[in-house]
Amino acid sequence: MPAPELKSVLVTGASQGIGRATCLHLASRGYQVVAAGRSKERLLSLKADSQTPESITPWELDVGDPGCVEQVPEIIRQVGRVDVLVNNAGYGLRGYVEELDMAAVQAQFETNLFATLRLSQAVIPHMRENGGGAIINIGSVSAHLGSPSAGAYAATKSALRSLSLVLRLELHPFGIKVAVIEPGVVRANFLRNQVVSSWREGEESPYASRAKKLEERTARFHHSGADPLRVARTVERIIRAKHPRPSYVVGIDGGIGVFAARFLPERLVQYCTRRVLMG
Ligand SMILES: NC(=O)c1ccc[n+]([C@@H]2O[C@H](COP(=O)([O-])OP(=O)(O)OC[C@H]3O[C@@H](n4cnc5c(N)ncnc54)[C@H](OP(=O)(O)O)[C@@H]3O)[C@@H](O)[C@H]2O)c1
Repeated sequence: MPAPELKSVLVTGASQGIGRATCLHLASRGYQVVAAGRSKERLLSLKADSQTPESITPWELDVGDPGCVEQVPEIIRQVGRVDVLVNNAGYGLRGYVEELDMAAVQAQFETNLFATLRLSQAVIPHMRENGGGAIINIGSVSAHLGSPSAGAYAATKSALRSLSLVLRLELHPFGIKVAVIEPGVVRANFLRNQVVSSWREGEESPYASRAKKLEERTARFHHSGADPLRVARTVERIIRAKHPRPSYVVGIDGGIGVFAARFLPERLVQYCTRRVLMG
């Protein structure tokens, strides 16, 4: 059977940052987009900002709620089909491993990892019936190179990478493409939206003096991050590719990070990470 043309895309976390840019870009390129997110107001503003608002269907969806998958059949019923799922919704959890609150870690895994798994499970039978499709997961260079105070986040993105690679093998026989995009720093609202978790009060923490320096350096990186449109274009590239690669890195810092993690001795990489981020 010839591969179907992939025209209808469901994007999670569409209200801000990379998800928003992806919806606007794909809509402008002729795709039908279901923009799923938590904030109805932001989704309506996304639709209003599109030059082709008729191509965008806003859909309220909180991926942190395990019950959100029950909405997938209704989405398919309303828009006719979902050819591509872009699992983008996610946030950073900041906190030193020793001090992380376990409920916060569980919520981090729920949104950044388990939601991807659940939504993928919900769309795969539909894609298989249609003869193909694509699942594109937004990972992070943190899967290769975690930074201090981002241990839980890095763990979700490493697991997401592993999940994507295995899912790709499993879905290959059904013509469903799977790829993970691993950006370095992107100029989105990621830093502003991150959740801070610690069961110790600020100055009581033995990490307090280093944390300030780390925060300043991280903020500097985020000002000079890549345009979210670069991730959006990579999503389109994967949708159009007959044989997409298993993973795509976005941004110079992302490229350097992945190269270093693959080819340099681990001790050297850890030393450089300490020097760059903690002085
Ligand atoms: N920015 C970076 O430097 C960077 C680098 C590598 C990877 N990433 C990844 O890129 C993805 C998008 O992040 P971003 O950079 O665009 O950050 P962002 O500007 O903070 O946007 C995050 C988006 O995810 C949504 N979201 C968070 N929790 C959600 C939930 N429970 N249900 C539904 N939507 C939820 C947010 O929705 P609300 O508007 O409702 O909060 C928002 O639309 C994330 O997976 C992130 O890990 C980002």
